[in-house]
Amino acid sequence: MKILIIHGPNLNMLGKREPDIYGADTLEEINSSLTAHAKELGVDVSFFQSNSEGEIVSTIQDAMSKHDGIVINPGAYTHTSVAIRDAILSSGLPVVEVHISNVYKREDFRQRSFISGVALGVISGFGVNSYFLGLSGLVEYLSDHGTG
Ligand code: DQA
Repeated sequence: MKILIIHGPNLNMLGKREPDIYGADTLEEINSSLTAHAKELGVDVSFFQSNSEGEIVSTIQDAMSKHDGIVINPGAYTHTSVAIRDAILSSGLPVVEVHISNVYKREDFRQRSFISGVALGVISGFGVNSYFLGLSGLVEYLSDHGTG
């Protein structure tokens, strides 16, 4: 089973960026813990981070032929990107949307997601653990429903 984990804009700044909201772990640390977690689950993970919407769209298109599912933290594009939503729809892949913070507890503009309506599920507010919960949920789903 091959899972792609996508980190959207500004998530390369984790560790330095608003640590009271997003925690002290760097993206590198998070990815290496996710790799260890994936190993325990017996699945392959690869990672992609970009600050650019178009690159994220192209990566989702590309994932169709290479991966069985995606865990994505779309960052601020969650609240703006019809293009990422359309890419997810056309990929046909199961996608889990994750957020470190609880977006529903924050500003109004963060409470609209263009992604949730096309996601398999959404996890928001568990800190970095949101990624781990999202990955476990996706792996369980794929084990039950097949990798297509
Ligand atoms: C975020 C929440 C978004 O609203 C924000 O723009 C981010 C991070 C989160 O992980 O909590 O960049 O996706």
